[in-house]
Amino acid sequence: MTSDLWWRSAAIYQLYVRSFADGNGDGTGDLPGVRSHLAYLADLGVDAIWFNPWYPSPMSDAGYDISDYRAIEPVFGTLADADALIAEAHALGIRIIIDVVPNHASDQHPWFAAALAAGPGSPARERFWFRPGRGPSGDEPPNNWQSIFGGPAWTRVTEPDGSPGEWYLHLFAPQQPDYNWSNLDVRREFEDVLRFWFGRGVDGIRIDSGALLTKDPLLPDVGLDEPPGPAHPFTDRDDVHDVYRSWRAVADGYPARVLIGEIWLPDAARLARYVAAGELHTVFNFPYLTCPWDAAALRQVIDETLALNAPSGAPAIWVLSNHDVDRIVSRYGRADTAFDLLRRRYFHNFAVDLALGTRRARAAALLTMALPGSVYIYQGEELGLWEVQDIPDELRQDPIWRRTGGADPGRDGSRVPLPWSGTEPPFGFSPAGAVREPWLPQPKEWRELTVSAESASGDSMLRLYREALRIRRSSVALGDGVMAWLPAISGVLAFDRLPGSDAAGGGVRCVANLSGGPVELPPHAAVLLASGPLTGEGKLPTDTTVWLRIQ
Ligand code: NOJ
Repeated sequence: MTSDLWWRSAAIYQLYVRSFADGNGDGTGDLPGVRSHLAYLADLGVDAIWFNPWYPSPMSDAGYDISDYRAIEPVFGTLADADALIAEAHALGIRIIIDVVPNHASDQHPWFAAALAAGPGSPARERFWFRPGRGPSGDEPPNNWQSIFGGPAWTRVTEPDGSPGEWYLHLFAPQQPDYNWSNLDVRREFEDVLRFWFGRGVDGIRIDSGALLTKDPLLPDVGLDEPPGPAHPFTDRDDVHDVYRSWRAVADGYPARVLIGEIWLPDAARLARYVAAGELHTVFNFPYLTCPWDAAALRQVIDETLALNAPSGAPAIWVLSNHDVDRIVSRYGRADTAFDLLRRRYFHNFAVDLALGTRRARAAALLTMALPGSVYIYQGEELGLWEVQDIPDELRQDPIWRRTGGADPGRDGSRVPLPWSGTEPPFGFSPAGAVREPWLPQPKEWRELTVSAESASGDSMLRLYREALRIRRSSVALGDGVMAWLPAISGVLAFDRLPGSDAAGGGVRCVANLSGGPVELPPHAAVLLASGPLTGEGKLPTDTTVWLRIQ
């Protein structure tokens, strides 16, 4: 693998800045905190870090409401901190991916302030979607679109003269006005933002809400069951691909840079179009992230993912969780192990067996890291953190919680600050003498899941991740490449990863047992790593994965 193609097999750590490490004691994570823990990430063995948005933001949606795309949120630090962090990470062999949010701005962005001030019909309003309301006095939204966070997707403004005025579109919170991607200012602006960050040494861009950018300018009502695609007014329209072709042209001007799409689409064939020649390098794999812990379902998703990427040769992305979904240990400990955004509101009512969830999460980690392509690890997954379901209502911050009137618990439970050391909160997240508590409360039971505690414990999740990443990195068979399924009984996933013909070193055979009882291991030369102990007879127990050396 040449270093220009690093992203094809990289292990990428998703770093949620607010909750990683607090350098200055204000209870919120920051870039100095990240800089002082880079050695931890190097030691963990990751190849790159993806940062959730680090820009100035009123934090109405945890940074996905950006008021300046070319600076750093003051609570997180400065541009100088970012420059130093990029340089220090590069010196450790770690690449940097940042989040760019092109679907919407913050309502505090200067362009939106200018649009409000300039009034109806102005060029400043053309950069967003302003429309008169319906009904005799214009007090009904321009169409029936609903916000993804709940409630109508339109908010009415007061015009500069004080009269009730136009409405603007926001597919997410009202503080996140959608850009109008048919406007040339918008297009030029984002190409320039890419150049700004590539020029500072950033290695990749994660594109937020990538299927939503372009809209039908007629803004027609949408049917409840309207499938994403060319006829849909705002999801997966054909014209979004023009945007990505121009972004790719920008990225190709810099060596080894990568564009990664966050494209939530149910249809694999439509998804494949985003990695067509001249567009994005890779796209996130949400079918895998939401798949239940079930061998047949996983096999189907794996096969479909590989088939979808095959025509373009794009590598797959394997990801078990992120900052938008319930933590994997809790999910796998429930009776329903799938994750469905639309049903999240119910999940916190179900019982969680944490021991079972942890066992499965360990097995899933080894399965995931053996698959061909790149892998993402959401911070805290390597510690086996669980979803914090009992955050007091008054401390919840996610707009999903507020906009659904508390019906949907939202995403705060997966965003709780990391436990680093010590026996009580803030568990080393903030320095001694911190003036504020962590921005979300940490469970006291996490004393057993701190980085220090897990480093000292032989069979911890952290030790498993470190060892798996070490083997994955040193193996010529793992990472990018092909896989070959092996025959296996129902409930078992077994496949080989073989090095290319000119590579030295052995292949790796991965067996994940999701069946109801122990299974025999297939032929092998040695056990490289197992997610849990084998039985006394050397069999692979339920909910356990093993990596075997072959040859
Ligand atoms: C997807 C991000 O992952 C999520 O956290 C955010 O709320 C929405 N996009 C809106 O930007």
